[in-house]
Amino acid sequence: MSILKINGGRELLGSVAVHGAKNAVLPILAASLLAGGETAIRNCPNLSDVGAAVKILNHLGCTAKLDSGTVNVNSQSLTRTDIPHDLMREMRSSVIFLGAVLARGGEATLSMPGGCELGPRPVDIHLKALSDLGAEITEEGGNIICTAAHLRGTRVNLSFPSVGATENTMLAASLADGTTIITNAAREPEIWDLQCYLRALGVSVHGAGTPTITIVGTKIRADVEHRVIPDRIVASTFLAAAAVTRSDVEVTDVIPSHLSTVTDALSEMGCLIELGGDSIHIKSTGQLRAIRPVITEPYPGFPTDVQPQLMAAALKADGTTVFVENIFENRFRHTEELRRLGADIKVEGRVAMVTGVPRLTGAQVTSTDLRGGAALVVAALGAEGTTEISALSHIDRGYDGLENSLASLGADIIRV
Ligand code: UD1
Repeated sequence: MSILKINGGRELLGSVAVHGAKNAVLPILAASLLAGGETAIRNCPNLSDVGAAVKILNHLGCTAKLDSGTVNVNSQSLTRTDIPHDLMREMRSSVIFLGAVLARGGEATLSMPGGCELGPRPVDIHLKALSDLGAEITEEGGNIICTAAHLRGTRVNLSFPSVGATENTMLAASLADGTTIITNAAREPEIWDLQCYLRALGVSVHGAGTPTITIVGTKIRADVEHRVIPDRIVASTFLAAAAVTRSDVEVTDVIPSHLSTVTDALSEMGCLIELGGDSIHIKSTGQLRAIRPVITEPYPGFPTDVQPQLMAAALKADGTTVFVENIFENRFRHTEELRRLGADIKVEGRVAMVTGVPRLTGAQVTSTDLRGGAALVVAALGAEGTTEISALSHIDRGYDGLENSLASLGADIIRV
């Protein structure tokens, strides 16, 4: 079992490129099922979650392969409509295949996604939306079974702007008869990227990025290419690492407007931020300061996926920063591990209070989840001495070669 060994306290210097967004690739891979032909998805990171999605496509009878940053999918043949338990377990977000499999195959059977390290992960909003579109849904022996000989466009109001439920509805609606209008849709940039891909397939869809998305079910065109947007969460992780190490770093291949809440928070902490067309330059020189409460919300609010990394940056800031986690019930598990490095964090329910300490010291810690693991890396870079981080499978779900990118900036980090 490998670990990351980090000798902290090194200044980072130089430029680092951001890979494609995991959360954009996954729904686009599901959407490739609708194509019924060949599609090439470029700028795909080599992540275990992407590997799991490729496995699902192959299991369903398609051919899919990740090769040098491109996933080539041929979805001409769909021979199955089930996703078994072991594949669902490998990637909780497998539920994103539900809408596409149902639309293409007329039925879909998924093993019920259980809870995950962030708490319970219900799928009621997904199921309600698919039922609005005409699917019949039953639950049997731990499986969800959806059938729909015929999906019909309709108005779908989401009770919460769930990212996955918005994507599943868009996917199912793409092959439905007539027009679907999704209200209270999620507005994340990854939804916009899915819209771009669906448009390339010939689907008439607009409104992504606003709370109302309209999809007119259309004949799908195959043989398309698409380049996935940059990963705003990975970019944010590099910025947090630069902040805590008082460094001078340029993050490239990024869409700066996608992480404006994060750059605003880092400026408030005292970092100098310069936005370029597709780059962000951060200079962190003096003592970082505590900032106003960081409250996670659906986009364009502060992303829950950056809460742990920003918290790691705030560990040595002057004063107390309050973090309010509104999206996931159980997203403070990293705080226990951060305390092992000397952090002063008090957690009460959905609120964490972080009071800056003069120094952090290296320790042996364990990743608790994907972004929690990234927060440990950020904190370790800002700590004195050696930190060893275990349970790297969490980090590998969302970061392609994190240690290589950080080492190229001068960090003392190796995987052993
Ligand atoms: C996506 C992202 C994840 C990010 C999250 C919130 C992907 C692959 N993952 O996850 O990285 O942290 O958005 O920005 O894109 N909920 C329900 N019922 C449902 C669906 C969701 O109660 O049917 C709740 C969830 O439990 C959670 C909240 O809604 O508390 C947000 O979930 P959602 O937006 O659906 O997140 P995901 O799509 O799973």
